[in-house]
Amino acid sequence: MFTERELRRGLRAKVFGNKIYTFQTIDSTNNCIKALANVGAAEGVVVLAEQQTAGRGRLGRTWLSQPEENLTFSVLLRPEVSTESINLLPLYVAVAVSQAIENSTGLRAECKWPNDLLIDKKKVAGILIESSMRQNRLEYVVVGLGLNVNQMQFTNGLLQKATSLKLETGKDFDRAKLLREILFNLETHYTQAVENDFKSVIPFWLSRTTMINKPIVVSQGNDIISGVVTGLSLDGGLVLQTNGRSQTMFAGDVTILADNPEQYMQAGSTTQVGAAFQKI
Ligand code: BTN
Repeated sequence: MFTERELRRGLRAKVFGNKIYTFQTIDSTNNCIKALANVGAAEGVVVLAEQQTAGRGRLGRTWLSQPEENLTFSVLLRPEVSTESINLLPLYVAVAVSQAIENSTGLRAECKWPNDLLIDKKKVAGILIESSMRQNRLEYVVVGLGLNVNQMQFTNGLLQKATSLKLETGKDFDRAKLLREILFNLETHYTQAVENDFKSVIPFWLSRTTMINKPIVVSQGNDIISGVVTGLSLDGGLVLQTNGRSQTMFAGDVTILADNPEQYMQAGSTTQVGAAFQKI
């Protein structure tokens, strides 16, 4: 298990990672950060665990990760951000982590709206943002990150959908070094983003995605909306062209249709598109 000392050695971030709690096993690092935030913990505190017994992802999913092989941690933020810009927070995290991965490995991890990172169309990292509001004000934000680093085996058919830095390069990565690079990039982008209500994140995100002009399907409960991605709105929504009109999505499960327009045409309606899905 990592010690705080080992993780902080050579840390370039000044505030993020100022205090790092490490656990062998915990329910969820996001839960732990919430508990710390509720008793007044300062911005930048990090909780890292080798194993989570109740690690969770978006939309009620479970986050599975092999102990000692990956990074699963959370950071506390107390940003001054308008409620309008809250949806830009996952995009900010995705950009910072993608940049850290690139600096550390040379790999380009693509941003998939709203909060995934993909390498070669497979998920390498997931981001879970949870926030607490008090009297209509954002009290704090918990940024949870699961990054597949050295894991080589994925169960339950996950191998088609998930990857790791080691699977992509054949190399083992120093997880402590990677964590320090991520914290540094999170802090650098944050310092810049808070100055303009997180709007500066948009061009960075657009330069790290390949979703633009791609046909996608968004499912929101029983609703399924299909369209072609045309951009991001200023408040972090995904803008789609659907049936000749523009529509902005703020939530949902996104499936990028295969990079083959012919398949998309054949798929026609959302009931038939299953064969063309590249479900992540
Ligand atoms: C997703 O892809 O849906 C988001 C996954 C987020 C997983 C991380 S692991 C650390 C932190 N603690 C959690 O319980 N979840 C996040």
